[in-house]
Amino acid sequence: MRWLIAGAKGMLGQDLTARVVKDGHDLIAVDIDGIDITDPASVREIVKDVDVVVNVAAFTAVDAAEEKEAAAFTVNATGPEILARRCREIGARFVHISTDYVFSGDATSPYREDGLLEPKGAYGRTKAAGEWAVRCNTDDYLIVRTAWLYGAGGKCFPKTMRDLSQTHETLSVVTDEVGQPTWTVDLADLIVRLVDAEAPTGIYHGTSSGKTNWHGFTREIVASIGKDPDMVKETTAAAFKRPAPRPHYSVLGHDALERIGVEPIGDWKERWLAAKDVVLG
Ligand SMILES: NC(=O)c1ccc[n+]([C@@H]2O[C@H](COP(=O)([O-])OP(=O)(O)OC[C@H]3O[C@@H](n4cnc5c(N)ncnc54)[C@H](OP(=O)(O)O)[C@@H]3O)[C@@H](O)[C@H]2O)c1
Repeated sequence: MRWLIAGAKGMLGQDLTARVVKDGHDLIAVDIDGIDITDPASVREIVKDVDVVVNVAAFTAVDAAEEKEAAAFTVNATGPEILARRCREIGARFVHISTDYVFSGDATSPYREDGLLEPKGAYGRTKAAGEWAVRCNTDDYLIVRTAWLYGAGGKCFPKTMRDLSQTHETLSVVTDEVGQPTWTVDLADLIVRLVDAEAPTGIYHGTSSGKTNWHGFTREIVASIGKDPDMVKETTAAAFKRPAPRPHYSVLGHDALERIGVEPIGDWKERWLAAKDVVLG
C-alpha cells in the first residue's frame, strides 16, 4: 500500500513515518518544505498515486491561535478541505487528526465520538471546522481525535516537567484538568491498525485508556526519573492565566473502536512506563 503523510516532521508525524516504513509500505513523507496543505496547486502536485493520505500537519500553537485565528483556520480547516477533495479525486482514503479541543471540556463522563462540538477557543474552533471540511468533501475518511500527546520528536509536557524538576525544589501542577496522556508511538500504531482493518468511514478516538490530571501525570513523570513524587504540589487552573481556555475534562470514550473490534490504546500509566525511556532519552 502507498501512503502519504503530510506533517511528517511534527511530533506525531515522525513516529507515524517510522511505523509506516517499518511495516514495509511505500511512503511519501512530507512537511511544509515539501507540501503546503493550504495550497491546492502544491497538494495537486504532491498528492498522487497513493492509497492512503494522513494529515498530521496543523497549526498547533493553542495560545497563539487566539491572536492568529485566521492563520490557524487556513491550516486547520482549509488545509484538510483541500486534502479531502484531492483524496476524493484520486480515490485515496483520508486520515485526518483532530483534537479534544473540539469539545467544551465541561463534561463529567467520557465524550462520545458523536458528541456535540462546542469548542471554547480559537484552536478548537478551527479544528472543529477542519472536521466538517473533511466530512463535507469525501466519504472515505477516518477522523481520529487525540489529546494530551507526548513523544520523543517534539516539545511536550513530560520533557518540560523533567527539566523543571531539575531546577526547582517543588512543582505546582493543576488538578482540575483531566485527560488521557497519549504516546505518539501508540497513536501511530492505532492509525496503522485502523487502516489495516479497513475501518468504516467515521470518527474514532485515539487516546490512552483510563484518566488522570496533570498533577497525577507529573507525579509519574518525576518518579520515573528517580525523584520524589511528593515534590509535585497541587494547584488549580485558575492560578495559571493563559490566553486560550483549557478544557477541564478531556476524556474521550472509545466506543467506536470497540464496535469495530479495534483495540483502544492501553491504560495511560502502563503506556507511560513503556514510553518514558524513549521520550525522556
Ligand atoms: N500535541 C498535542 O498534544 C495534540 C493534542 C490533540 C491533537 N493534536 C493533533 O495531532 C496532530 C499532530 O500534532 P503534533 O503535536 O504532532 O503537531 P506538530 O508537532 O506541531 O507538527 C505539525 C507539523 O505540521 C507542519 N505544518 C504546519 N503548517 C503546514 C502546512 N501548511 N503544510 C504542511 N505542513 C504544515 C508543521 O511545520 P512547522 O513546525 O514548520 O509549522 C509541523 O511540522 C495535529 O492535528 C494536532 O492538532 C495534537
